[in-house]
Amino acid sequence: MTNQKRRCLVLGGSGVLGQAVCRVLLKNGAQLGLTYFKNEEGEKALQANYPEDDIKLYKLDAGDADQIQSTVTQAVADLGGLDALVHCIGVGVTHSARDPNQHIRMDEITAQGWDEMFRINVRSVFLAATAALPALKESANAQIVLTGSIDGEKAVPSPIHYASTKAALGGLVRSMTKELGEFQIKVNMVTPGIMDAGLSQTLPGSMREEYKKHCGFKREARPGEIASFTAWLALENTYVTGRSIIIDGAL
Ligand SMILES: NC(=O)c1ccc[n+]([C@@H]2O[C@H](COP(=O)([O-])OP(=O)(O)OC[C@H]3O[C@@H](n4cnc5c(N)ncnc54)[C@H](OP(=O)(O)O)[C@@H]3O)[C@@H](O)[C@H]2O)c1
Repeated sequence: MTNQKRRCLVLGGSGVLGQAVCRVLLKNGAQLGLTYFKNEEGEKALQANYPEDDIKLYKLDAGDADQIQSTVTQAVADLGGLDALVHCIGVGVTHSARDPNQHIRMDEITAQGWDEMFRINVRSVFLAATAALPALKESANAQIVLTGSIDGEKAVPSPIHYASTKAALGGLVRSMTKELGEFQIKVNMVTPGIMDAGLSQTLPGSMREEYKKHCGFKREARPGEIASFTAWLALENTYVTGRSIIIDGAL
């Protein structure tokens, strides 16, 4: 990776994947802004290990459009520009009220639950990317990196509202690519299978066992294994764009 200081904003830097991404970015000399929602303690611990100028924290509720705009604006001002916007925010799986060993079923998902899932997993991506555009257009090598999920790509058992949000991100990636290509802004999505931490902990155990049975590696991914590729896109990529890169150990 290059030694040049890249200015990166990691939305959801407080999550399991987001923290792993932040660590790789910081290790490679990036200057970071990152957001948290409820996990302020984890963020402060991360910040304590780095010079104050290299890491700025912002509290963000990704359901609030105004907060997204003001957070991105503030981060761009603090970092003196922006080279990479990385979106690792996500809300996900919930158990079926009828059977705790199953994920939530189609007929248990309410209109409100559907809307909330889309507000956090999809709308926040669109709003953040739009807010970041003026700064990204000024970057010598701009990146937007999203986080998908295998549920949005393959027919695997999954709560349908969650899977639908991840599939929607695929459309967003492809269409943004065409609109932003003329500015040399790369747009990609890292699409994990199941990781051994984070949101997957809310999956029924039987589903995780089933995943391991069918995955070529016979194990879940470690967050660092997904994060290193996300960070590579943010730091190094020059010609990959419009792609969902599936990292599922050959499911
Ligand atoms: N874990 C997996 O196996 C897996 C597999 C495929 C895809 N993914 C995707 O990977 C991404 C990260 O997931 P993860 O496993 O790292 O989960 P996680 O540890 O639960 O992290 C979720 C992140 O989203 C943030 N967040 C949640 N609601 C928010 C809101 N309303 N406003 C702002 N931020 C909010 C959390 O902030 P706080 O913690 O500060 O509240 C946290 O930073 C998600 O997009 C997920 O869909 C995960």
